[in-house]
Amino acid sequence: MDLQLTGKRALVTGSSSGLGEAIAKALATEGAQVVVHGRDRARTEAVADAIGAAGGSAVVSLGDLTTDDDADAVAETALAGGPIDILVNNVGAAPHRDWETATATDWSQIYELNVISGIRMIRRVVPRMHERGWGRVIQIGGGLGLQPTADLPHYNATLAARHNYTVSLARRLKGSGITSNAVAPGAILTGNARQYITDLAPDRGWGETWEEIERNAIEELVPNDVGRLGRAEEIAAAVLYLSGPLAAYVTGTTLRVDGGTIRGIH
Ligand SMILES: NC(=O)c1ccc[n+]([C@@H]2O[C@H](COP(=O)([O-])OP(=O)(O)OC[C@H]3O[C@@H](n4cnc5c(N)ncnc54)[C@H](OP(=O)(O)O)[C@@H]3O)[C@@H](O)[C@H]2O)c1
Repeated sequence: MDLQLTGKRALVTGSSSGLGEAIAKALATEGAQVVVHGRDRARTEAVADAIGAAGGSAVVSLGDLTTDDDADAVAETALAGGPIDILVNNVGAAPHRDWETATATDWSQIYELNVISGIRMIRRVVPRMHERGWGRVIQIGGGLGLQPTADLPHYNATLAARHNYTVSLARRLKGSGITSNAVAPGAILTGNARQYITDLAPDRGWGETWEEIERNAIEELVPNDVGRLGRAEEIAAAVLYLSGPLAAYVTGTTLRVDGGTIRGIH
């Protein structure tokens, strides 16, 4: 199926690793020109190089999106090569805290990183989409924003904020040809997740092979109907759909990609 992404230009924030990297690579595979963004030059360039080596097109943009100055620089570099058709707000982190250890400063800092980073890019990129009457704005949210746990309260709240402003933006973009949607991943198999589970496995008796360990860990930690962690490529596939003309009638929605982890109707 042709997703009609050839020739579109996409900025994926936080694409020097993890989900953002998978999203950037998937968009490039579908023919989009991708702006790969991160703070770490070596990691960000490595992703752009890999896209180039696979026959795709990528440029690099570096900057810390918790500051206005760097956000200006990132947007300027991204827009220098042409308009941005697809903005994927993916930057984020989940520093481990609970209700007892998360200070007011922790709550404030994670809001700055996980929420306002996206707002900064929307303010810089979406006006240019208006000029052309077409655009896609996609936030990476998460299941913990819909069904929060006791742990990571500050992080959970930022995911809920992303889902919430996604809808507000969709209403603001009414009739513009620009859509705003969120993708809400469940627990995804990243390098960090694999290390965390592998470290816990011997004490919890989850098994010997990765397949056994993953199945048992998921049942205990994040039970879902598919019985495994998600893969970054599965999040990227949802972003691909929302990025193209085929999703023109989809706006203000949160697409859950979580194996059925979230039990309610959202
Ligand atoms: N992994 C999951 O299971 C999962 C589940 C639900 C939602 N999510 C969401 O998905 C997104 C990506 O998660 P991930 O696990 O792929 O994370 P990750 O591998 O840690 O990647 C985070 C990315 O954000 C960039 N970044 C971090 N702080 C930044 C800052 N201040 N300014 C600019 N860039 C910054 C990093 O760039 P540098 O390394 O170059 O600094 C990196 O490219 C996050 O928003 C997260 O909340 C993840």
